Amino acid sequence: MIGPAAAADYPLRQVTVIVPFAPGGPTDTVARIISAQMAKSLGQKVAIENVVGAGGTLAASLASRAAADGYTLIAGHMGTHAAAVPLYPGLSYHPTRDFEPVALLAGTPIVILARKDFPPKNLEEFAAYVRANTERLNVAHAGIGSVSYVSCLVLHRQLGVKPTGVPFGGMGPAMKALIAGEVDYMCDQIVNAVPHINSGKIKAYAIAMPTRSPSLPNVPTTAEAGLPGFQARAWIAMFAPKGTPPSLVVLLNAAASHALDDRAVRDSLQALGAVIPAPEQRTPQALADLVASEIDRLTPLLWQAANATNGHDQPWK
Ligand code: MLT
Repeated sequence: MIGPAAAADYPLRQVTVIVPFAPGGPTDTVARIISAQMAKSLGQKVAIENVVGAGGTLAASLASRAAADGYTLIAGHMGTHAAAVPLYPGLSYHPTRDFEPVALLAGTPIVILARKDFPPKNLEEFAAYVRANTERLNVAHAGIGSVSYVSCLVLHRQLGVKPTGVPFGGMGPAMKALIAGEVDYMCDQIVNAVPHINSGKIKAYAIAMPTRSPSLPNVPTTAEAGLPGFQARAWIAMFAPKGTPPSLVVLLNAAASHALDDRAVRDSLQALGAVIPAPEQRTPQALADLVASEIDRLTPLLWQAANATNGHDQPWK
């Protein structure tokens, strides 16, 4: 058992951060950059363990049942810790009841991406093409409830289409499939896409934010490109199992926040288009508030989108 003075001799061994998706995707990338820096201030290795399945909810379920001793954490996100609530009626954990929020790590704008030889030349053409060819199109996502799933679900609702979804264990493998031309398009977090857009391996139609990203200055916003109603953003954050001693949460929060102040960490994240949270957005309470407000925001939105598409809660798989 860990007592209130636990922080004095923590950590004595390796800390594990569970990433609920495959290696090489947005959650993995952000978690690795920040964990490597956290390891320096904690004085112990911080290992990443990728646990794949059920749109990230398998890993979140596992993490919610891990020992609350500060040695197992999870890099959750807008999917696992908000969207999963309305999309999985039988979810075995609840983001607010079963976790201690540690710190928000990054904001991750959503970009509409396609294989490089996808015919439409801009977002207006994309919308028309997707409407005209829905039956033939394959859209990559990382499982029901994942950010990619939710973002394209909202896009599809606006376009009034139901293309075929192709689930992957994460957007790392989905990106490989997009580059190889095995799938047609996807709605992904910017951190997974910037290098591949800039090297011309994939196409980007628009960023679903009010302003362009400094890391993708040539990619228009959805408003500029003619689809102002499609706005989508996500976030990645660190959580510990419920009951983790407050002294450890404070210490882990400080390590995460310190990592976000590190020049090299900031440069790496910003080069990938991540939005680094301001200090007041990094507190456990700010993350608790974000999770609660995201569940409130997404629940009606996802029920509406699901029902508008085919009348039940799994509009495409
Ligand atoms: C990933 O890390 O693969 C993504 O965050 C998956 C997603 O939610 O789209």
